[in-house]
Amino acid sequence: MVKDDQTAFEIKLAERAGAVEALLRRILDERPLPGEIARPQRLLAAMRHGVLNGGKRLRPFLVLESAALFSADGEPALRVAAALECIHCYSLIHDDLPAMDDDDLRRGQPTVHKAFDEATAILAGDALLTLAFDIVADAATVLPAERKLALTLALARAAGAGGMVGGQMLDLEAERDQPDEAGIIRLQAMKTGALIRFACEAGAIVAGAPEPDRERLAEFGSAIGLAFQLADDLLDLTADARQMGKATGKDAAAGKATLVALHGADWARSQLQGLVEQAHGLLEPYGASAVLLKEAARFIAVRNS
Ligand code: IPE
Ligand code: IPE
Ligand code: MG
Ligand code: MG
Ligand code: MG
Repeated sequence: MVKDDQTAFEIKLAERAGAVEALLRRILDERPLPGEIARPQRLLAAMRHGVLNGGKRLRPFLVLESAALFSADGEPALRVAAALECIHCYSLIHDDLPAMDDDDLRRGQPTVHKAFDEATAILAGDALLTLAFDIVADAATVLPAERKLALTLALARAAGAGGMVGGQMLDLEAERDQPDEAGIIRLQAMKTGALIRFACEAGAIVAGAPEPDRERLAEFGSAIGLAFQLADDLLDLTADARQMGKATGKDAAAGKATLVALHGADWARSQLQGLVEQAHGLLEPYGASAVLLKEAARFIAVRNS
């Protein structure tokens, strides 16, 4: 619903979220695809619970707006956006498991292992990870084969051992090892930054944009990825569970090494400001067509949920 006081950014974010959710709803159908044997009802229900449960859909927005810089925000970009959201949602399902952050609440609802059970949550995550690559490879993603290959490789590198999953490993170790500032920045660039960097780079890949544009957008993604986790850590300290739809105050309780724990909330706020300026600078060559991406960078830094 469009409210009177909504900004152009908020309206577009809601519109893009609606489009990606409609596609995800279709993709998470119980009917098996060619080559599949059957889709167990309970598994699909858990996957839908973990995906179609709200969420800001910021990563899909970044894919679509980056693609829009090159007038390529059509169906193929939407499918890549949906694939990335599947990986993000899988990462959240697994992140919330008792063996990881042990959280009961996500997006204002019971986490998947609470609504179902742990084993089902693990399998729902596994299936969402696989599904992401299915979505990219499927003939319905109408792109030249070399772009689909480039997307597959970039997504795998962003999501795997040298990206998000590796970052989650370092994050677990950070409770014990207490990394220094450079170590924290590296782990955050991996656990959160890598998928956000991919989101921005993916728009350029979908569009077949020249290499310098791809690199520039990846760099933009790195800057806002760092800002994203910094804001998340700040909100963990300053916001409440009702506002966030997830438990807060957990990082300090776990003794987790974060930049907020190291330098405090005021430092984090000024750092966020600097990252937004850096991100905006990277978009200068795109002029007015990058207005919403710039707004996204600001939103990430000052968001309150
Ligand atoms: C939460 O991501 C996990 C982090 C990487 C900090 P989001 O804040 O984008 O979560 P949703 O998708 O909106 O629920
Ligand atoms: C999670 O970081 C990043 C992921 C790869 C899922 P957090 O553990 O801080 O995310 P929240 O606060 O639970 O959303
Ligand atoms: Mg975590
Ligand atoms: Mg967590
Ligand atoms: Mg957090």
